[in-house]
Amino acid sequence: RDFRTMRFLLSAPKLSALPPADRCEIAFAGRSNAGKSSALNALCEQGNLARTSKTPGRTQAINFFDNDRLRFADLPGYGFARVPPAIKAEWGALIEGYLAERETLAGIVLIMDARRPLLDFDRQLIEWGSAYGLAFHLMLTKADKLSRNEQHNVLRRTRAAVEGATAQLFSSTKRIGIEEARAAISALVPD
Ligand code: GTP
Ligand code: MG
Repeated sequence: RDFRTMRFLLSAPKLSALPPADRCEIAFAGRSNAGKSSALNALCEQGNLARTSKTPGRTQAINFFDNDRLRFADLPGYGFARVPPAIKAEWGALIEGYLAERETLAGIVLIMDARRPLLDFDRQLIEWGSAYGLAFHLMLTKADKLSRNEQHNVLRRTRAAVEGATAQLFSSTKRIGIEEARAAISALVPD
């Protein structure tokens, strides 16, 4: 539950470069620019743990962070239109290979921009991951961009649309939902 001890481990540009599967892992997935790296930094109370960027598609490898009990995997964002098809296929293979075959993967934190939740790729990932028996926690981030009323509505709609997953509002910049996220992520981890 205390993620402040998380440290950068390595960056894996291909499946053969993954770290040994020696501890429980939680993957952070979502569209490019949704705010995955920012969320990781906020949860770990470290400004520069995961690299964030205004340029979508910045994280092109799986970046791993861990402490002695738990490991986070920051997945490359999907859905970035300007990426050449060959590179897109490579990313897809990396993400899919990791999610399908990682025995120590306990769950997926799906980060979505609260203004555009549950787009095609998000839905596909939930469907596909659920078929593999993976648990999901949905984080509607950049909630600071919405009014109270809009926040309430998007959370209600998201919860209604996805059965069997937990969901919450989040903001890295305004620090909304940080403790809630820590608790929900910890709940994905088996004792
Ligand atoms: P990729 O690595 O390219 O897949 O992106 P990412 O999902 O890791 O996004 P990243 O954390 O780099 O954030 C993308 C942009 O959104 C940056 O300009 C962030 O400053 C901004 N951002 C992230 N989280 C928030 C938030 O909660 N609120 C607001 N207003 N902006 C945010
Ligand atoms: Mg990133």
